Amino acid sequence: MTKEKVTTFLAQIGNQKDPYTGAISAPIHLSTTYSHPHLGQSTGFDYTRTKNPTRSILEEALAKLEEGSLAVATSSGMAAIQLVLGLLPQGAHILAGRDLYGGSYRYFNFLEEQGVATFAYFDSQEEFETLLADTPEVAAIFLETPTNPLMHEFDIETIADKTHEHGARLIVDNTFLTPLRQKPLTLGADFVVHSGTKFLSGHNDLLAGVAVAKSQEDGEKLSWLANTTGGTLAPFDSWLFIRSLKTLSLRLERQEENAGKLAAQLRKLPQVTEVLYPGIGGMISLRVTDPQKIPAFLESLELFTFAESLGGVESLVTYPTTQTHGDIPVAVREAYGLTPDLLRLSIGIEDAEDLLADLVQALEVFPTAKTL
Ligand SMILES: Cc1ncc(COP(=O)(O)O)c(C=O)c1O
Repeated sequence: MTKEKVTTFLAQIGNQKDPYTGAISAPIHLSTTYSHPHLGQSTGFDYTRTKNPTRSILEEALAKLEEGSLAVATSSGMAAIQLVLGLLPQGAHILAGRDLYGGSYRYFNFLEEQGVATFAYFDSQEEFETLLADTPEVAAIFLETPTNPLMHEFDIETIADKTHEHGARLIVDNTFLTPLRQKPLTLGADFVVHSGTKFLSGHNDLLAGVAVAKSQEDGEKLSWLANTTGGTLAPFDSWLFIRSLKTLSLRLERQEENAGKLAAQLRKLPQVTEVLYPGIGGMISLRVTDPQKIPAFLESLELFTFAESLGGVESLVTYPTTQTHGDIPVAVREAYGLTPDLLRLSIGIEDAEDLLADLVQALEVFPTAKTL
Protein backbone atom coordinates (compact mmCIF):
# COMPACT_ATOMS: atom_id res chain seq x y z
CA MET A 1 0.00 0.00 0.00
CA THR A 2 1.33 3.46 -0.87
CA LYS A 3 1.18 6.24 1.73
CA GLU A 4 -2.02 7.67 0.20
CA LYS A 5 -3.61 4.25 0.02
CA VAL A 6 -2.79 3.57 3.68
CA THR A 7 -4.46 6.85 4.68
CA THR A 8 -7.57 5.87 2.70
CA PHE A 9 -7.55 2.36 4.11
CA LEU A 10 -7.22 3.61 7.70
CA ALA A 11 -9.99 6.19 7.39
CA GLN A 12 -12.41 3.57 6.03
CA ILE A 13 -11.85 0.81 8.63
CA GLY A 14 -15.23 -0.33 9.93
CA ASN A 15 -17.23 1.54 7.32
CA GLN A 16 -19.01 -1.61 6.23
CA LYS A 17 -21.83 0.22 4.42
CA ASP A 18 -24.35 -1.85 6.39
CA PRO A 19 -27.45 -2.18 4.12
CA TYR A 20 -29.86 -2.14 7.11
CA THR A 21 -28.61 0.92 9.01
CA GLY A 22 -25.97 2.57 6.84
CA ALA A 23 -23.76 2.84 9.96
CA ILE A 24 -20.37 4.32 9.12
CA SER A 25 -18.89 3.66 12.54
CA ALA A 26 -18.56 -0.10 13.10
CA PRO A 27 -21.29 -1.44 15.42
CA ILE A 28 -20.14 -2.67 18.84
CA HIS A 29 -21.38 -6.24 19.11
CA LEU A 30 -21.67 -6.87 22.83
CA SER A 31 -23.42 -10.21 22.52
CA THR A 32 -21.19 -12.93 23.93
CA THR A 33 -23.12 -15.72 22.25
CA TYR A 34 -24.77 -16.21 18.85
CA SER A 35 -27.76 -18.24 17.75
CA HIS A 36 -27.27 -21.32 15.62
CA PRO A 37 -29.79 -21.54 12.74
CA HIS A 38 -29.78 -25.34 12.92
CA LEU A 39 -27.85 -28.11 14.61
CA GLY A 40 -24.36 -28.13 13.08
CA GLN A 41 -24.84 -24.67 11.49
CA SER A 42 -23.25 -21.38 12.50
CA THR A 43 -23.27 -17.80 11.21
CA GLY A 44 -19.49 -17.89 11.66
CA PHE A 45 -19.86 -16.41 15.14
CA ASP A 46 -20.47 -18.73 18.11
CA TYR A 47 -18.93 -17.20 21.22
CA THR A 48 -17.13 -13.89 21.63
CA ARG A 49 -13.90 -15.26 23.08
CA THR A 50 -13.54 -17.24 19.85
CA LYS A 51 -14.67 -14.57 17.39
CA ASN A 52 -16.53 -11.29 17.68
CA PRO A 53 -17.80 -9.21 14.73
CA THR A 54 -16.33 -5.93 16.02
CA ARG A 55 -12.99 -7.54 16.86
CA SER A 56 -12.93 -9.28 13.47
CA ILE A 57 -13.09 -5.89 11.68
CA LEU A 58 -10.12 -4.73 13.74
CA GLU A 59 -8.13 -7.94 13.26
CA GLU A 60 -8.64 -7.96 9.50
CA ALA A 61 -7.43 -4.37 9.31
CA LEU A 62 -4.36 -5.09 11.46
CA ALA A 63 -3.44 -8.16 9.40
CA LYS A 64 -3.68 -6.07 6.22
CA LEU A 65 -1.59 -3.24 7.67
CA GLU A 66 1.21 -5.62 8.70
CA GLU A 67 0.81 -7.68 5.51
CA GLY A 68 0.28 -10.85 7.54
CA SER A 69 -2.17 -13.72 7.18
CA LEU A 70 -4.05 -13.32 10.45
CA ALA A 71 -4.02 -10.97 13.42
CA VAL A 72 -5.29 -11.51 16.94
CA ALA A 73 -6.26 -8.48 19.03
CA THR A 74 -5.43 -9.11 22.68
CA SER A 75 -6.18 -7.46 26.01
CA SER A 76 -2.67 -5.93 26.24
CA GLY A 77 0.71 -5.94 24.51
CA MET A 78 2.01 -8.38 27.12
CA ALA A 79 -0.90 -10.73 26.31
CA ALA A 80 0.17 -10.63 22.64
CA ILE A 81 3.78 -11.48 23.55
CA GLN A 82 2.57 -14.29 25.82
CA LEU A 83 0.39 -15.62 23.00
CA VAL A 84 3.19 -15.83 20.44
CA LEU A 85 5.69 -17.32 22.90
CA GLY A 86 2.96 -19.80 23.84
CA LEU A 87 3.35 -21.42 20.42
CA LEU A 88 6.97 -22.37 21.14
CA PRO A 89 7.75 -25.84 22.49
CA GLN A 90 8.37 -26.44 26.19
CA GLY A 91 12.01 -25.69 27.07
CA ALA A 92 12.55 -23.48 24.00
CA HIS A 93 15.77 -21.51 23.91
CA ILE A 94 15.17 -17.90 22.82
CA LEU A 95 17.68 -15.24 21.84
CA ALA A 96 16.47 -11.71 22.56
CA GLY A 97 17.77 -8.23 21.88
CA ARG A 98 18.94 -7.04 25.30
CA ASP A 99 17.54 -3.51 25.16
CA LEU A 100 13.82 -4.15 25.35
CA TYR A 101 10.73 -3.13 27.29
CA GLY A 102 11.27 -3.93 30.99
CA GLY A 103 7.96 -5.81 31.17
CA SER A 104 9.07 -8.18 28.41
CA TYR A 105 12.33 -8.77 30.26
CA ARG A 106 10.36 -9.44 33.48
CA TYR A 107 8.16 -11.97 31.64
CA PHE A 108 11.15 -13.72 30.05
CA ASN A 109 12.77 -14.04 33.48
CA PHE A 110 9.57 -15.52 34.85
CA LEU A 111 9.46 -18.09 32.04
CA GLU A 112 13.04 -18.99 32.83
CA GLU A 113 12.30 -19.35 36.56
CA GLN A 114 9.32 -21.57 35.75
CA GLY A 115 11.50 -23.77 33.57
CA VAL A 116 9.34 -22.99 30.53
CA ALA A 117 12.04 -21.42 28.35
CA THR A 118 15.63 -20.20 28.51
CA PHE A 119 16.96 -16.88 27.20
CA ALA A 120 20.25 -15.40 26.04
CA TYR A 121 20.63 -11.72 25.14
CA PHE A 122 22.53 -9.85 22.43
CA ASP A 123 23.42 -6.16 22.11
CA SER A 124 24.41 -5.95 18.47
CA GLN A 125 23.99 -7.65 15.12
CA GLU A 126 27.47 -9.18 15.47
CA GLU A 127 26.68 -10.54 18.93
CA PHE A 128 23.46 -12.01 17.57
CA GLU A 129 25.33 -13.83 14.81
CA THR A 130 27.95 -15.20 17.19
CA LEU A 131 25.34 -16.29 19.70
CA LEU A 132 23.27 -17.99 17.01
CA ALA A 133 26.29 -19.78 15.55
CA ASP A 134 27.29 -20.99 19.04
CA THR A 135 23.82 -22.21 20.02
CA PRO A 136 22.43 -25.04 17.91
CA GLU A 137 19.09 -25.41 19.68
CA VAL A 138 17.65 -21.89 19.26
CA ALA A 139 13.84 -21.94 18.78
CA ALA A 140 13.17 -18.22 18.32
CA ILE A 141 14.58 -14.71 18.21
CA PHE A 142 12.73 -11.86 19.91
CA LEU A 143 13.57 -8.36 18.83
CA GLU A 144 12.56 -4.73 19.28
CA THR A 145 13.84 -2.31 16.68
CA PRO A 146 14.44 0.54 17.30
CA THR A 147 15.11 -0.68 20.82
CA ASN A 148 13.48 0.76 23.92
CA PRO A 149 14.88 3.10 25.18
CA LEU A 150 18.33 3.18 23.51
CA MET A 151 17.00 3.38 19.91
CA HIS A 152 19.45 0.85 18.56
CA GLU A 153 18.38 -0.39 15.12
CA PHE A 154 18.68 -3.97 13.91
CA ASP A 155 18.59 -5.12 10.29
CA ILE A 156 15.46 -7.30 10.33
CA GLU A 157 16.12 -8.79 6.88
CA THR A 158 19.59 -10.11 7.76
CA ILE A 159 18.42 -11.36 11.14
CA ALA A 160 15.44 -13.12 9.50
CA ASP A 161 17.71 -14.87 6.97
CA LYS A 162 20.10 -16.09 9.66
CA THR A 163 17.21 -17.12 11.91
CA HIS A 164 15.61 -19.22 9.17
CA GLU A 165 18.92 -20.81 8.14
CA HIS A 166 19.00 -21.97 11.74
CA GLY A 167 15.45 -23.34 11.59
CA ALA A 168 14.22 -20.82 14.18
CA ARG A 169 11.36 -18.26 14.17
CA LEU A 170 11.68 -14.47 14.26
CA ILE A 171 9.32 -12.40 16.44
CA VAL A 172 9.51 -8.60 16.15
CA ASP A 173 7.92 -6.14 18.56
CA ASN A 174 6.90 -3.35 16.19
CA THR A 175 5.38 -1.05 18.83
CA PHE A 176 7.76 1.88 18.26
CA LEU A 177 7.36 2.29 14.49
CA THR A 178 3.97 0.73 13.63
CA PRO A 179 3.33 -0.88 10.20
CA LEU A 180 3.25 2.61 8.71
CA ARG A 181 7.02 2.92 9.17
CA GLN A 182 8.22 -0.70 9.30
CA LYS A 183 6.69 -4.00 8.21
CA PRO A 184 8.76 -6.80 9.75
CA LEU A 185 6.72 -9.56 8.08
CA THR A 186 7.67 -8.26 4.64
CA LEU A 187 11.33 -8.31 5.77
CA GLY A 188 11.17 -11.97 6.77
CA ALA A 189 9.85 -12.01 10.34
CA ASP A 190 7.39 -14.78 11.23
CA PHE A 191 5.41 -12.88 13.86
CA VAL A 192 4.85 -9.26 14.78
CA VAL A 193 3.62 -8.15 18.18
CA HIS A 194 2.50 -4.72 19.34
CA SER A 195 1.49 -2.92 22.40
CA GLY A 196 -1.65 -1.48 20.79
CA THR A 197 -1.75 0.79 23.83
CA LYS A 198 0.88 3.01 22.20
CA PHE A 199 0.96 4.60 18.72
CA LEU A 200 -1.68 2.33 17.17
CA SER A 201 -4.43 3.55 19.50
CA GLY A 202 -2.57 6.74 20.34
CA HIS A 203 -4.75 8.48 22.94
CA ASN A 204 -3.53 7.02 26.24
CA ASP A 205 -7.02 5.61 26.81
CA LEU A 206 -6.86 1.99 25.62
CA LEU A 207 -4.92 -1.05 26.79
CA ALA A 208 -4.60 -3.49 23.89
CA GLY A 209 -2.21 -5.75 22.06
CA VAL A 210 -1.78 -7.28 18.63
CA ALA A 211 -0.14 -10.48 17.42
CA VAL A 212 0.15 -11.03 13.67
CA ALA A 213 1.42 -14.14 11.91
CA LYS A 214 2.91 -14.20 8.45
CA SER A 215 1.75 -17.68 7.42
CA GLN A 216 -1.83 -18.90 7.46
CA GLU A 217 -0.75 -21.96 9.44
CA ASP A 218 0.82 -19.86 12.21
CA GLY A 219 -2.15 -17.48 12.12
CA GLU A 220 -4.58 -20.32 12.72
CA LYS A 221 -2.45 -21.59 15.60
CA LEU A 222 -2.44 -18.08 17.13
CA SER A 223 -6.24 -17.85 16.84
CA TRP A 224 -6.64 -21.30 18.33
CA LEU A 225 -4.39 -20.45 21.28
CA ALA A 226 -6.09 -17.07 21.81
CA ASN A 227 -9.45 -18.82 22.04
CA THR A 228 -7.99 -21.48 24.32
CA THR A 229 -6.24 -19.11 26.73
CA GLY A 230 -8.80 -16.30 26.49
CA GLY A 231 -6.82 -13.04 26.34
CA THR A 232 -8.79 -11.64 23.38
CA LEU A 233 -9.80 -7.97 23.20
CA ALA A 234 -13.28 -6.95 24.39
CA PRO A 235 -15.85 -5.56 21.89
CA PHE A 236 -15.89 -1.99 23.19
CA ASP A 237 -12.09 -1.87 23.28
CA SER A 238 -12.00 -3.29 19.75
CA TRP A 239 -14.29 -0.48 18.61
CA LEU A 240 -12.13 2.15 20.35
CA PHE A 241 -9.06 0.65 18.66
CA ILE A 242 -10.77 0.87 15.22
CA ARG A 243 -11.81 4.48 15.90
CA SER A 244 -8.22 5.35 16.86
CA LEU A 245 -6.60 3.62 13.87
CA LYS A 246 -8.47 5.95 11.51
CA THR A 247 -6.14 8.82 12.47
CA LEU A 248 -2.92 6.80 12.85
CA SER A 249 -1.32 8.21 9.75
CA LEU A 250 -2.10 11.85 10.65
CA ARG A 251 -0.98 11.42 14.23
CA LEU A 252 2.24 9.69 13.29
CA GLU A 253 3.16 12.28 10.69
CA ARG A 254 2.75 15.07 13.23
CA GLN A 255 4.52 13.18 16.01
CA GLU A 256 7.43 12.40 13.71
CA GLU A 257 7.65 15.97 12.43
CA ASN A 258 7.68 17.27 16.01
CA ALA A 259 10.23 14.65 17.10
CA GLY A 260 12.58 15.54 14.23
CA LYS A 261 12.45 19.23 15.13
CA LEU A 262 12.95 18.60 18.84
CA ALA A 263 15.82 16.15 18.34
CA ALA A 264 17.66 18.72 16.22
CA GLN A 265 17.19 21.47 18.83
CA LEU A 266 17.99 19.24 21.81
CA ARG A 267 21.34 18.36 20.23
CA LYS A 268 22.33 22.05 20.52
CA LEU A 269 21.59 22.37 24.23
CA PRO A 270 24.55 22.38 26.64
CA GLN A 271 22.65 20.43 29.30
CA VAL A 272 22.10 17.50 26.92
CA THR A 273 25.08 15.18 26.43
CA GLU A 274 23.46 12.84 23.88
CA VAL A 275 20.28 12.65 21.82
CA LEU A 276 19.14 9.21 20.64
CA TYR A 277 16.72 9.61 17.77
CA PRO A 278 16.66 7.19 14.81
CA GLY A 279 15.28 9.88 12.45
CA ILE A 280 11.93 8.09 12.24
CA GLY A 281 8.96 7.71 14.61
CA GLY A 282 7.97 9.77 17.61
CA MET A 283 10.34 8.58 20.34
CA ILE A 284 13.48 10.37 21.53
CA SER A 285 15.85 9.45 24.35
CA LEU A 286 18.36 11.89 25.76
CA ARG A 287 21.15 11.95 28.28
CA VAL A 288 21.58 14.89 30.63
CA THR A 289 24.61 16.27 32.44
CA ASP A 290 23.55 15.53 36.02
CA PRO A 291 21.16 12.68 36.96
CA GLN A 292 20.81 14.12 40.50
CA LYS A 293 18.83 17.00 39.02
CA ILE A 294 16.29 14.79 37.25
CA PRO A 295 13.62 15.14 40.01
CA ALA A 296 13.86 18.97 39.70
CA PHE A 297 13.66 18.69 35.88
CA LEU A 298 10.50 16.58 36.08
CA GLU A 299 8.90 19.06 38.47
CA SER A 300 9.78 21.99 36.21
CA LEU A 301 7.99 20.59 33.16
CA GLU A 302 4.69 22.28 32.45
CA LEU A 303 3.54 20.72 29.18
CA PHE A 304 5.24 17.32 29.10
CA THR A 305 3.64 14.93 31.61
CA PHE A 306 5.89 12.70 33.69
CA ALA A 307 4.26 9.31 33.09
CA GLU A 308 4.91 5.82 31.78
CA SER A 309 3.81 4.76 28.30
CA LEU A 310 4.25 6.31 24.88
CA GLY A 311 2.77 6.93 21.48
CA GLY A 312 -0.21 9.07 22.50
CA VAL A 313 -1.20 12.52 21.30
CA GLU A 314 -0.04 14.00 24.62
CA SER A 315 3.72 14.36 25.07
CA LEU A 316 5.15 12.33 27.94
CA VAL A 317 8.49 12.01 29.64
CA THR A 318 9.51 8.71 31.21
CA TYR A 319 12.44 7.92 33.48
CA PRO A 320 13.29 4.33 32.42
CA THR A 321 15.57 3.76 35.44
CA THR A 322 12.66 3.83 37.90
CA GLN A 323 9.68 3.28 35.60
CA THR A 324 9.53 1.15 32.44
CA HIS A 325 12.86 -0.61 33.03
CA GLY A 326 12.94 -0.62 36.84
CA ASP A 327 12.56 -4.43 36.93
CA ILE A 328 15.84 -4.98 35.10
CA PRO A 329 18.66 -5.45 37.63
CA VAL A 330 20.77 -2.26 37.95
CA ALA A 331 24.03 -3.99 36.99
CA VAL A 332 22.43 -5.51 33.88
CA ARG A 333 20.85 -2.32 32.60
CA GLU A 334 23.81 -0.05 33.38
CA ALA A 335 26.17 -2.46 31.60
CA TYR A 336 24.27 -2.03 28.34
CA GLY A 337 23.87 1.73 28.57
CA LEU A 338 20.58 2.23 30.38
CA THR A 339 22.16 4.56 32.90
CA PRO A 340 20.54 7.05 35.35
CA ASP A 341 21.25 10.04 33.07
CA LEU A 342 18.77 8.75 30.46
CA LEU A 343 15.29 10.20 29.89
CA ARG A 344 12.77 9.04 27.30
CA LEU A 345 10.40 11.39 25.52
CA SER A 346 7.23 10.37 23.72
CA ILE A 347 6.38 13.21 21.39
CA GLY A 348 2.73 14.12 20.92
CA ILE A 349 0.88 16.23 18.39
CA GLU A 350 1.13 19.57 20.23
CA ASP A 351 2.81 22.61 18.70
CA ALA A 352 6.55 21.88 18.34
CA GLU A 353 7.56 25.33 19.58
CA ASP A 354 5.51 24.91 22.75
CA LEU A 355 7.12 21.52 23.37
CA LEU A 356 10.60 22.89 22.79
CA ALA A 357 10.02 25.91 25.05
CA ASP A 358 8.89 23.58 27.84
CA LEU A 359 11.96 21.35 27.52
CA VAL A 360 14.35 24.29 27.28
CA GLN A 361 13.03 25.95 30.44
CA ALA A 362 12.99 22.68 32.42
CA LEU A 363 16.46 21.63 31.22
CA GLU A 364 17.85 24.77 32.84
CA VAL A 365 17.96 22.89 36.16
CA PHE A 366 20.95 20.90 34.79
CA PRO A 367 24.47 22.28 34.74
CA THR A 368 25.81 22.95 31.25
CA ALA A 369 28.48 20.52 30.08
CA LYS A 370 31.08 23.32 30.34
CA THR A 371 30.37 24.12 34.01
CA LEU A 372 30.54 20.49 35.15
C1 LIG B 1 7.85 -1.97 23.17
C2 LIG B 1 6.76 -2.47 24.07
N1 LIG B 1 6.30 -3.72 23.91
C3 LIG B 1 5.33 -4.21 24.69
C4 LIG B 1 4.79 -3.47 25.72
C5 LIG B 1 3.70 -4.06 26.58
O1 LIG B 1 2.45 -3.55 26.18
P1 LIG B 1 1.19 -3.34 27.15
O2 LIG B 1 1.58 -2.30 28.16
O3 LIG B 1 0.11 -2.90 26.23
O4 LIG B 1 0.92 -4.66 27.79
C6 LIG B 1 5.23 -2.16 25.93
C7 LIG B 1 4.65 -1.35 27.02
O5 LIG B 1 5.14 -0.33 27.38
C8 LIG B 1 6.24 -1.65 25.08
O6 LIG B 1 6.72 -0.40 25.24
